[in-house]
Amino acid sequence: KQAEGKDKKILELATSADFPPFESHDKSGDIVGFDIDLASYIAKQLGYELKVKDMKFDGLIGALQANRVDMVMAGMSATEKRRNNVDFSKEYNRSGEMFIFKKGKQFRDLEGLKGKTIGVQ
Ligand code: ARG
Repeated sequence: KQAEGKDKKILELATSADFPPFESHDKSGDIVGFDIDLASYIAKQLGYELKVKDMKFDGLIGALQANRVDMVMAGMSATEKRRNNVDFSKEYNRSGEMFIFKKGKQFRDLEGLKGKTIGVQ
């Protein structure tokens, strides 16, 4: 969207700031998180000023379809139903975090940890 009376182009991002660490409110009420950082970077690279709009998750796709915003980032996964209504980018996050221990312990999950001693004893 073009800002009135301004040179800088505005990129309006919709999110639902209830999904940390992707998007949430910090103590002072600002919307922060991984998606906001990434959107800021994209906006900067393209020469836009980023404006973040917080809304209900269920309203995000509708807001995009109704041209109320330019883009959505909300930790949203591409389901088939959503794909029918909007265009998804390439995947930018795949969650593959694991906890790790010293080699040879073979703790795979919580069950594997039960009854065992963690750490240096
Ligand atoms: N990845 C899940 C989905 O697409 C959950 C996303 C929730 N995001 C949020 N901002 N509340 O449905």
